[in-house]
Amino acid sequence: MVQSESVRVRGHKLAQLLGTWSAGQRPSSGALHSALRQLILDGRLAPGTRLPAEREFADVLGASRTLVASALESLREDGFVASRRGAGSWVTLPEGRSAAATGGWFPPEDGETINFAQAIPGPVPELTNAVDAARARFAEQATGHGYQLHGLPALRERIAERFTRRGLPTGEQQILITNGAQHAFALALRLLVSPGERVLVEHPTYPNALEAIRAVHATPLPVPMADGGWDPELVEATLSQGSPRMAYLVPDFQNPTGALMSGPVRGRIAAALRRTRTTAVVDETLVDIDLSSDGVPPPMAGFAENQVITVGSASKSFWGGLRLGWIRAPEEFVQRLVHGRAAVDLGSPVFEQLVLSEILDGADSLLRSRRAELVERRDGLVAAVREMCPQWKFRVPDGGLSLWCDLGRPVGSRLAVAAEQHGVRLAPGARFAARGALERYARLPYTLPVERLRAAVSKLALAWEAVHDTGVVDPWQEPVT
Ligand SMILES: Cc1ncc(COP(=O)(O)O)c(C=O)c1O
Repeated sequence: MVQSESVRVRGHKLAQLLGTWSAGQRPSSGALHSALRQLILDGRLAPGTRLPAEREFADVLGASRTLVASALESLREDGFVASRRGAGSWVTLPEGRSAAATGGWFPPEDGETINFAQAIPGPVPELTNAVDAARARFAEQATGHGYQLHGLPALRERIAERFTRRGLPTGEQQILITNGAQHAFALALRLLVSPGERVLVEHPTYPNALEAIRAVHATPLPVPMADGGWDPELVEATLSQGSPRMAYLVPDFQNPTGALMSGPVRGRIAAALRRTRTTAVVDETLVDIDLSSDGVPPPMAGFAENQVITVGSASKSFWGGLRLGWIRAPEEFVQRLVHGRAAVDLGSPVFEQLVLSEILDGADSLLRSRRAELVERRDGLVAAVREMCPQWKFRVPDGGLSLWCDLGRPVGSRLAVAAEQHGVRLAPGARFAARGALERYARLPYTLPVERLRAAVSKLALAWEAVHDTGVVDPWQEPVT
């Protein structure tokens, strides 16, 4: 970990994160060591974070400086903290654990193993009708050379209208059609971020976004998610102290936590983006998967029009196989993207774009059915986990496609290994971490039919028992009792 990448956590913030770290007992260096280690393993203190000076730390905790020094010394021995004279101390991860196995991970379907590793719904039933309708219109489009770097005008218009209906006036010239949201993010990164620069990410975050950041030789700068959402103070501090070139945010049913950013927090983070002149890519891939009747707050771009590049996708709303997404940005930026795009690809397939514009014509009723089905599946999964794995804790999300489960112990990766042996492919929390950690979590998607979800959870319950029974102790993890 290069210490200069880091952000300093203030003493009062750290004390707040530590909460009742001594659990009502006499404060001891052992208790402080365990509490800090837990914060790091949970990803709530991201690797690279600079710790307060010992004296400040001791003052805010009301503990002696010797106690703090001794706790930090033990953390250094375990590989959770590094220090350099004159530069202070910062959070690290023990060797071998800092490169989380993330991204690019689409294991083959083998028919027997239940795929719980991906949160991807199947196609909407109306897809076939849309294909037929597109075929009928195809002849009128199949003229000329067929290369349209911006995308099909009719589709761009429909996407622009959807933004306008959500309260964000948008012209067709502000829309670029891409081959999915991941492609859109990669195009934006390519244009804006240079090797060695930093990209602020939520922690946990979408693993393939981390892959895309690394692919341009940039460094993810993680900001831990607080319980149930964003801590605007931490985001502001990271923006101003970490000087990221870009921020990648998923405010609408964040993957994997399912959290929804409130209007006021959007406003506050947007103000910080403006203040620090940071461009944010706001990924709205899951915005349609709103499972409450409350609606979502206005789009982030409405709070910082020149600072936000919005990325959207047809994958979760309609079907991933369409491989279509879009970018909404100021017109001048769209033009720059179109020029940059020519080095990578020369536009999206015309036929699929026609299919998507047909789908968008009837999107409202179609999304109603999709949401109703996902509510049933979410509730089915919630009931199954409460019944068969009652120790696991989670917040029932108002949208998105998964439960972010707190297993109560840092055994996510071990559970995933045991689950595979029981016929379930599981995404452990570490897959969503920028640099390891988040071992206490696992993501459980509710995109399969309820019967299949129940079968998966019953296998996970067996895997959970096996994790308890093995007694195998990874020196990095706490023993499981
Ligand atoms: C937050 C987020 N962004 C992007 C993607 C990828 O979307 P697409 O299929 O449009 O490339 C996903 C898919 O899981 C996602 O969850």
